[in-house]
Amino acid sequence: MKGLILSGGKGTRLYPLTYTRAKQLVPVANKPVLFRVIETLVDAGIRDIGIVVGDTANEIMEAVGKGRRWGVEITYIHQEAPLGLAHAVKISRDYLGDERFVMFLGDNVIQGGIAPLIRQFESSDWNCQVVLTPVSEPQHYGVAELDPDTRRIVRLVEKPRNPPSNLALVGIYMFDHHIHEAVESIRPSWRGELEITDAIQWLIEHGYEVHPYIHRGWWIDTGKPIDMLAANDLVLDEECEHRIEGYVDRDSVIQGRVTVQKGAEIINSTIRGPAIIGENTRIVNSYIGPYTSIYHDVVVEDSEIEHSIVLEGTRIEHISRLVDSLIGRNVELTRSPYKPKAYKMTLSDHSKVGVL
Ligand code: G1P
Repeated sequence: MKGLILSGGKGTRLYPLTYTRAKQLVPVANKPVLFRVIETLVDAGIRDIGIVVGDTANEIMEAVGKGRRWGVEITYIHQEAPLGLAHAVKISRDYLGDERFVMFLGDNVIQGGIAPLIRQFESSDWNCQVVLTPVSEPQHYGVAELDPDTRRIVRLVEKPRNPPSNLALVGIYMFDHHIHEAVESIRPSWRGELEITDAIQWLIEHGYEVHPYIHRGWWIDTGKPIDMLAANDLVLDEECEHRIEGYVDRDSVIQGRVTVQKGAEIINSTIRGPAIIGENTRIVNSYIGPYTSIYHDVVVEDSEIEHSIVLEGTRIEHISRLVDSLIGRNVELTRSPYKPKAYKMTLSDHSKVGVL
């Protein structure tokens, strides 16, 4: 069985973080979302993974490489424009051959992985299986309607105004080779994309077996900044462990589940978990509160940060309290000693700042 990860798209809803970065590479609990997706497939025993890339291809290829780190072989498939999920399957035809495969959106984080499910499909004779989960606003997703008796999927609709159920497609799909005929047969939707929901609907209408799998844990589509913080909370809650690989001086206090990664230094500071401090990051005279992920090569001095994500290369000094914040890469957040006494900012487009 092969894996196909979709990692194109511009990530406009995560602006400004994704002006300069592929959305799939933004880290949650200090690990890029795309790496989490790869690990889910590896856990299910998949060794052959194709990644569909778009505008941010170079960055993704540089970060992921050939897959040796996970003991897998990665093949890149270039999509010239984001023309839909079914289009991604279409251009992956040669790579996939006639094998069964699982398709996974590269910006989704799902609780507990889905390894048993993938293995189950591998040995079944079903034509397609789709992962669904109950959501409160189904109109924003692809939605499935199930037959009340057989529990098979009878209908799929993309972002319906009047959703037939609260079961959303989470962006994990398993297929056999019949999907190739389906993606060749459908036409682009109103948004100009070849929709995978239409292709699956085609399978249903042509008598193929399409089964649901209802996921009961949490699932986050990390599309918007607020989703990133929510995903960070959930992942820290689930997997953050007390592990000190860096240096913590005697004047510092580490409370609860805190991970201090290699080369990090905690000097005269309090870190309250769950929290993770990245490689070669320095925390000096500061407080880092629960549900915070500070990435690699960051400096925090004389500051307090809680419930936030800070990305690499950033410097935060003399900031009395930063909460619910998402700070990008190589940002400088400091106090200015020079007159006039005022906020002095260089902010990129779409930045959001709340001052006191
Ligand atoms: C895509 C799918 C949709 C699915 C969603 C999950 O939507 O088309 O069916 O529910 O991913 O994240 P998009 O993110 O392209 O709007």
